[in-house]
Amino acid sequence: MRNYFATVLTGLEQLLVEEINDKLIETQVIGTTRGKVFIRTNLNLDQLKTLKLADNLYQVITRFNVGIHRPDLQQLYDQIYQLNLKTFRGKGSFYVNASRKGQHTYSRFEAAQKAMEGIKRRYPHRKIGTANRHDVEFRLDIEDHQALFSLRLTDATYRFRQNQRSFTAASLLPTVAHAMVWLSKPKETDVFIDPCCGSGTILSERLSYPFTYVGGGDIDNKALAAAQKNLKNSFAEVTQWDARELKFADTSISKIVTNLPFGRQISFESETKEVNQAILTEIYRVLTHQGTAVILSEGWSKILQVAETLGFSLIENYNLSLKGLHPTIYVFKK
Ligand SMILES: C[S@@+](CC[C@H](N)C(=O)[O-])C[C@H]1O[C@@H](n2cnc3c(N)ncnc32)[C@H](O)[C@@H]1O
Repeated sequence: MRNYFATVLTGLEQLLVEEINDKLIETQVIGTTRGKVFIRTNLNLDQLKTLKLADNLYQVITRFNVGIHRPDLQQLYDQIYQLNLKTFRGKGSFYVNASRKGQHTYSRFEAAQKAMEGIKRRYPHRKIGTANRHDVEFRLDIEDHQALFSLRLTDATYRFRQNQRSFTAASLLPTVAHAMVWLSKPKETDVFIDPCCGSGTILSERLSYPFTYVGGGDIDNKALAAAQKNLKNSFAEVTQWDARELKFADTSISKIVTNLPFGRQISFESETKEVNQAILTEIYRVLTHQGTAVILSEGWSKILQVAETLGFSLIENYNLSLKGLHPTIYVFKK
């Protein structure tokens, strides 16, 4: 069995634990810390990559003690030098990214530099790369006296689901879209819509699970063009519409997952809050009794009040820190 960890947006650790327990056989969750979930498993990387809530996957190489003062970096250098990095065969460059939490008298950059020097001494044929250009990436997480040294197994194509996706300025991260889909508890009988689908991230993520219908729309042509491109060879239907006046009958949609327009991102309409209120009212109308609405909203303080007035019950909510904003995911039941 090998030890790994997955990084995840802070606040979504428990959802990732659920996903791991649901999707990965014979895998033990051995702990969580802020933004990380640790597992022990025999599964291979392709199997681990079936996780859709994780940002990146790392293989744990070792844990060791570190001092908190600058002269202690020499000891860190020696410890890294001692490592037989079996997974680190072949040619190419490497890089170490470090994080640091605690009262150290050195910076994370100095720690990373020392670690790279240790590796270079042991493997002089490998080049030290740059932050943006390297073939192999290690990660050194230092917290007080503890260091965790790991090998990064995934690149950005994992969390962004390939390079060729079209994004718009307001596009949601696929991992966050997936968390929202996960919170809707996907079922084969779901009639699922995203009324403000933008580039279609939520719809794309929903397609990983069985469904009866997946569709969405957006008022904006550019967003819709991106969604059509992203969903081109899929079963998801995308249409231009105004989410305040959906063409669906009352109580006809079982799951609605959407990322409401954010005032700062969306400039076509100055009264975003009024628009959001009208959209939420329409979501309530089309949702089946006991239907679920998972809604990501930022900066709309009245959402809970409006939802309650409409008749929604709040089941749970998750506060996120995303691209400098602090949106919340709300899970409502009608
Ligand atoms: C925050 S973005 C959604 C981003 C999307 N989740 C993605 O990943 O691309 C909100 C979207 O709501 C759309 N929108 C705003 N008002 C709308 C309305 N009345 N009807 C439908 N869509 C609307 C905007 O054009 C924008 O694309």
